[in-house]
This record gives sequence, structure tokens and C-alpha cells, in this order.
Amino acid sequence: MMRRVRPPLTLLGLALISAAATACSSEAGSSAQTSTSATAAQGSVSAAASSLPEPEAAPRAKANVREGGALALAVGEQALYLADEDHKALRRIPLPSASAVPSADQVQTLELPGAPAQVLALAGRVLVTVRDPGLLLVIERDEQGALFEKGRVELPADAWGIGLSADESLVLVSSAWTSQISAVELGSLQKLWSLEVAREPRAVVLNEQGTVAYVSHLVGSALTKLEAAGPGGLASPPKVSSVGLTPAPLRSPSGVTLGASLGYAALLSPDQSRLFVARHALGALGENAWFGASTVDVLLTADDSSLAPRRHNLLPFLRADKAPSGRELVVPGKPLSPFTQPRAMAYRKSTQTLLVASEGDDLLAELDATGLDPARGVLRSYVVGSDYDPLLPVAGTCGAPSGLALSSDEKTAWVWCRSTYDLAVVKLEDFSRESAPAKELPAAVVSTVRLADEPLADKDGAIGRRLFYNATDRITSGGLACAGCHPEGRDDGHVWHEAKFNTTDGTHTNFVGDAADIPQEEGVRGLPRRTPMLAGLVAAAGPYGWHGESTDLAARLNAGFGLHRWGGMPKHDGSNLIARAGRLTVFLRRGLVPPPALGRELSETEKRGRDVFASPEVRCAQCHAAETGFTNRAVYSLAKLPVRGGFDEEEEAGFKTPSLRFIGGRAPYFHDGRAPSLEWIINNNNDRMGSTNQLSGVDRAALVAYLKTL
Ligand code: HEC
Ligand code: HEC
Repeated sequence: MMRRVRPPLTLLGLALISAAATACSSEAGSSAQTSTSATAAQGSVSAAASSLPEPEAAPRAKANVREGGALALAVGEQALYLADEDHKALRRIPLPSASAVPSADQVQTLELPGAPAQVLALAGRVLVTVRDPGLLLVIERDEQGALFEKGRVELPADAWGIGLSADESLVLVSSAWTSQISAVELGSLQKLWSLEVAREPRAVVLNEQGTVAYVSHLVGSALTKLEAAGPGGLASPPKVSSVGLTPAPLRSPSGVTLGASLGYAALLSPDQSRLFVARHALGALGENAWFGASTVDVLLTADDSSLAPRRHNLLPFLRADKAPSGRELVVPGKPLSPFTQPRAMAYRKSTQTLLVASEGDDLLAELDATGLDPARGVLRSYVVGSDYDPLLPVAGTCGAPSGLALSSDEKTAWVWCRSTYDLAVVKLEDFSRESAPAKELPAAVVSTVRLADEPLADKDGAIGRRLFYNATDRITSGGLACAGCHPEGRDDGHVWHEAKFNTTDGTHTNFVGDAADIPQEEGVRGLPRRTPMLAGLVAAAGPYGWHGESTDLAARLNAGFGLHRWGGMPKHDGSNLIARAGRLTVFLRRGLVPPPALGRELSETEKRGRDVFASPEVRCAQCHAAETGFTNRAVYSLAKLPVRGGFDEEEEAGFKTPSLRFIGGRAPYFHDGRAPSLEWIINNNNDRMGSTNQLSGVDRAALVAYLKTL
């Protein structure tokens, strides 16, 4: 067994003991306090720290959970903490009792230097990640109970997920856009290391021993594993590897590893034998399962294998249209997928269940954590959304659940709904594992509290926000929100199949996650359509679409409404589409947040790359014009390449020149996703785009380095 050095009890430690002592008594006086961000000088905490004698060890309450989330139950005080991303604020919500309804006017708000992603509560303090600038903040309460910044650590931009070691000495933080994992020693608030991992790392989970951490990704099906490389545990730069975890193996076509997306949440079972990863299995089979299915995949940590076996590749595989619907499992919630766009998870020990906050359908799903395929064992489904608009049927209250905290007695769940800024108090059912699933959905929401107003002044933008996250409006899509493929306005890294096929209501062109989702139409595999990123890239008037076929943004959205579904649209009036597209347009342009900017001068190499890019001989800038967001938006027929495996040949050869802004962070490239990296593009270009064959190795590297700064 490895020995871990206990961190010295710092000033921070002393302060938190006193904070914990005053926490309860100061509750009443602390209503509606707003303190602005106290910017503690960097490093000042660590400087004063180690000289103090260590006081008698008072047993300190431990964190309830060791993974961050948008919402966290405080330790040693009756309160919740909320990372309110859209308002760039940390909120403290006092709880009158474990199950009673909090009151909005008691909420304390601390403005933060940027949008927070996750909060994690320790005794007397909370840790908060800030996306841009990338920071880990330590927030405490002063003697009057006001929130203040106790310390901060600068981290790679887009700091997002927090994972805490069991001895609470170390945190690992993921930086999503910059693809980094960093380690921070909590005692000294020093960053120990940062290292690069695959695209969009999100949830970070550490084992008890502090020897292994798993990281989930928003894009792709593999996890990243970090293993201690020496006696320092994860405090020293660890060994990094990629661990394959088959998405929805029981629902995959035989012999196929499906793509995955939306890996926002992951956690370990209490005995640490299983790692649960909530996400989407793109192309998973089922009745009318066009995009695939939501899933909670289970990794056995003993040998990093998938709990559920894959279908043997010689078994005849289940086609989407052949799924025996009569034999489908009957689960509460939606038939297509019992939940969509999983955003947060909690483990309920007393019932051995997993609670999943489902962004797309405004519910909390309770799954059997002991099952082979937990998403097929939905035991309860608590609807939190309400107040649906009859015309644009999106939730007016508690839309888009994205944060989740469980009470200590595990009888109450608090849910943060990020498209309406409400907190829902959900009474969880007491049930024995043997009892039959409830036929009726229980009226589980005790109450909701609105914590903040919509930040966009524009009313249309506010409705656009709700539409963007919502998967229940059947006109916008067939059961998957915009955020399901364009999470946070970014992209899922997936190449969709745009295919024309027969469904029960006629012949339609739809997107499917995998060719296997297409009912047996002779050899139809679909045209490749890589999801484009939207945030920061939709300001231009037009045209839109990979072929530049939509004159403006609203026209593209109208086209999209028909594509992302199974079959045709429900009967509708044309004005319905205009109403939706108009509101979404406002939200896409004003509400989505572009990824962090470079924030530094170009290096000499990057400057050299800029010259190569702009040179009249190489000609990149001719089409990717810098003045107009690195695209002239014109359509070109570049030399044809062989069709990508698994897709159909495309007759229409012209593609719109894509913007190269943020290009470094959004592989794979081209409309068919064939290019895994920018290096690949330059080395395989062969004068197809501009003229690159004459470039030296140094110039090619410089060009790539420059592209990564855009
Ligand atoms: C099933 C995944 C999926 C869903 C759901 C989805 N999209 Fe897309 N989106 C795509 C793909 C793939 C493309 C590329 C299609 C093309 O251009 O031919 C695309 C293209 C776009 C474009 C064009 C961008 C450009 O630069 O040309 C916009 C805008 C857009 N989507 C917005 C939305 C909005 C708003 C929603 C919700 C109403 C939405 N999408 C839902 C996958 C999806
Ligand atoms: C004649 C116009 C033209 C020129 C010149 C040109 N490109 Fe492109 N570029 C395009 C088009 C069109 C696409 C989309 C092709 C596709 O998706 O199949 C594209 C795609 C790309 C992509 C992938 C973007 C994405 O979102 O997937 C990169 C990167 C890129 N170009 C870089 C360059 C560089 C570097 C040069 C100079 C060496 C260059 N291009 C020159 C038209 C051009």
C-alpha cells in the first residue's frame, strides 16, 4: 500500500475550521448578499502557509462526492453551491432543512472572473473551475458569512472538470478546449503539472488510493487513464493511456465500435469496481433509433474491460427496422431513449441506483447501477420540467437539467436547470429493488425556485436558448436537441450519415448516427456530414450548409429541422418553422460562447506560418480570407478523393470553404471527417487546396502551428 503524505494544515485549513463553526449561526444575517470578486494575489496563500504549527487534529468532515458538478451539497453547512455558468457567478443557496424548499432571496452570489463550470464542496470551502480565463478558485465565507475568493491557481484555458483525491490533498482539473489535465496541490495551491490528452476532456474521477484517474471526453468513445508513475502518486506527472470503452455494446451492430459523444459525467461505484460513464452511443440500434441512444457504459476497473460484452461479430445483427418492438423493454420516460443528453450523475448508495440529469427531456432518470446496461434498466423517471409553452413546447420552468446534488439521507435530489435558471427539489421515491417499475410517473418535484433571470436582454434569444437545449419539441427535431450534436455550440466530432430511406410515413432524408440505423435499403449508407461548430462561427449572413446550399442561417435551421429525426415532420404550419428558426438564430449569435482566445502574441514559428498561409504562392488566404473569419464562404469543387469507407459517393462535389477559426480544437476535418489532424491535411494535400508540395518540412510545421492559433 502506498503511503500518502498528509498536507500541512495551512492558513486555509484554520480558516475553514472557523468558517465551519460560524456557518450555521450566520445563516439568518446573510440574506441576499452580493460581494464582488476579491482578487487574492496569486501565490499569497502558499507563501504564508507552512510556518504554522499543526493544531490538534480535529476530525474534518469529508467531501460528499469527489467529482465536481454544476451543483454541490456543502459540507458542514446547510447549503448548496451552484456554478452558474451563464451568469458568471457562484451562488450559495441556504437550505432551511434537508428537504425543505430554499428561498430565492436568501441566495448569496459571488461574481467570478469568468464563467464557472464545476463546483466541489469541501469542509468550509468550495473549489470552482472558471473556463476563461482558466482558473481553479478556492472560495470561503468570512465571519459575516460573505463569500470571498481565498486563493486561485491559473490553469490552461477552459478549466472544467474537478476530481479530488480521497485524502483531499490533490485535485485534477480538465481543461476542455485546450485538451489538458492539470494537477493542483490543495495545501499550497500550486499547480504541479499539466499534460495534453485527447479532445474535450470533461469528467475527472480519482480512485481511493490516489493511483489512478479516469477522464471522460465530450468527443469520441475512449477514456483517458492516468496512472501514478512513482511513489508521488498522481502528484507527479502520471503515465497517460487511452482506454477503449465500447458505447452501448449490447445495442451496437455486431463487431462495430460505435462513436460516442457528450461524455460529461462519470463516477465510480462505492467499491470502485465499476466506472460509470454517461453519454450517447452514436448509431446504437433500436426502434427508430436514428441518432443512436443515450447510455451509461460500465468499465470494470480491475482490467479496464467493458462490463457488457460486445455482440459476436458473426451474429446476425439487429437492424433498426427489424427491432422486435413488442419485445422492447418497457421503461418509464421516453420510448426512443429513456433520457437524452446526460449532463450530470449521482450514485444513490441506499438503492444502488444512478441518478442521471437529462438535459434534453427535462427529467431525472434513476437507473439500476447493478445492471449490465444501466440505461436499459430505468427504474424511475422524475420529470422536473413544467410550464410548457403551448406554441413552442419548451419548458418555462426547469428546462435543461444540468446539475444534480443528492441529500445526505439520499431522499432528496436538487436539480439545476440551466435554460430557465431554476432549482428543482425532487423527492426521490423510497423503493425496494424488487418492486415493479411505477406505471405512472410520480409527481416528484416538491417545488422549484428561480435563482436568476435570463441573461440575454432579447426575449427571442431567451426562447432560442430553451429551444437549443430541448429535445421534446417534435418540430425542432425528432428527440435530440441542438445541444445533443452541437454541445455548448461546439461539435460532437461525429460524421453523420445523411440518407434517404423509407419509414412508416414515407421516404425522407434523415441523419443517422451509423449506416446500420438505415433500414435495409439496398446498399444505402448515406452521405458524410461532419457536425460543424457554431459558437463564434455564425455571424455571417450566409451561405450555410456544407454545400453552401442555404442562403442564410434561418434557412439552414429550417433544413436541419427536417434532417435530425426519424421520418418526416409532424403536421405543421410554415410559421412554426419561422418562429423557431428566428429565435434560435438570435440565441446562436448572442448566447453561444466561443472558445477561449489564444491570449498571447504569436511565436516566431507561428509568424512564419502566417506568412506561408498568406503567401500568393501557397494561396490559403485566397479562399480562407482572414478578414472575413478565414473563409470567403464560396463553394469550390476540389479534386475528388476516393469515397470514405462506410459512406455513399456524393454527386455534388462543391463544398463551402469552412472558416478556420478555432480549427486547432475541432478535429476531425473536412465534410467527411477523413482528416484526423492538421498535420495530416498538409502532408496529404498534394496541391489540392492551394499549393503545398513545394513547402519544406519547417514551413509545413510553421503553417500547422499558425493554424492552431486561429
Ligand atoms: C443529429 C445531429 C444534429 C442536430 C441534432 C443538430 N445539428 Fe446542426 N448540424 C449537424 C450537421 C451534421 C450539420 C452539417 C450539415 C450540412 O451542412 O449539410 C449541421 C449544420 C448546422 C448548421 C450550419 C453551420 C454552417 O456553418 O454551415 C447550423 C447553423 C446548425 N447545424 C444549427 C443547429 C441547430 C440550431 C440545431 C437545433 C435545432 C441543430 N443544428 C441540431 C448536426 C446536428
Ligand atoms: C480553392 C479554395 C481553397 C484554398 C486555396 C484552400 N482551401 Fe482549405 N478548404 C477549402 C474547402 C472548399 C474546404 C472544405 C473541403 C471539404 O470539406 O471537403 C477546405 C477545408 C480546409 C480545412 C478543414 C476545415 C474543416 O473545418 O474541416 C483546412 C484546415 C484547410 N482547408 C486549410 C487550408 C490551408 C492550410 C490552405 C492553404 C495551403 C487551404 N486550405 C487552401 C477551400 C480552399
